[in-house]
Amino acid sequence: ARLVVLVSGSGTNLQALLDACADPAYGAVVVAVGADRDGIEGLARAERAGLPTFVHRVRDHATREEWDAAVTASCQAHQPDLVVSAGFMKLAGEVFLTAFAGRYLNTHPALLPSFPGMHGARDALEHGVKVTGATLFVVDPGVDTGPIVAQAVVPVEDDDDVASLHERIKAAERGMLVEHVGRMAREGFVVDGRRVRIGR
Ligand code: GRF
Repeated sequence: ARLVVLVSGSGTNLQALLDACADPAYGAVVVAVGADRDGIEGLARAERAGLPTFVHRVRDHATREEWDAAVTASCQAHQPDLVVSAGFMKLAGEVFLTAFAGRYLNTHPALLPSFPGMHGARDALEHGVKVTGATLFVVDPGVDTGPIVAQAVVPVEDDDDVASLHERIKAAERGMLVEHVGRMAREGFVVDGRRVRIGR
């Protein structure tokens, strides 16, 4: 399976995928990396891996729709089977979601449907939950509402701050992402209403 990965930050999830894809038995390859901003470690990781990259900044486009169309076209140019948002901090628009319906995956640093949005780790900490985690899901038009592929649970420790909790979540998130993207690539998957089943 061909993967295009979208990033906005440090790209540790991207790196985990790149490392996994180095083994042909993994069944997937990252063919390009896209971003919504310059100068991020995620893009540097892609460049070090010798991968093509593209950057579309919202502010360089007249409208959000034009930005969305540009991201869609750049992804399509690499003919991905799956597009993976690995810390891509922008909501895809209608054109993108139509082009990649059922094939656009995102990871979120909380156990959805709890704590959707930009601050999953902070919101879980502030709520006082004792376990949180990460969720891999198929993106739909809502915010962090799509059908769930996998979840990983992590404990919240008494002395956690947002940074320590998010780091623990991200360690679990990377393992979950690598395991399930690989299985989806090798075995296929079906989205049946709200349920996602891996395997044919
Ligand atoms: C991940 O926790 C992702 O879920 C969140 O931002 C983080 C991205 O980390 N939205 P990285 O760029 O993959 O290191």
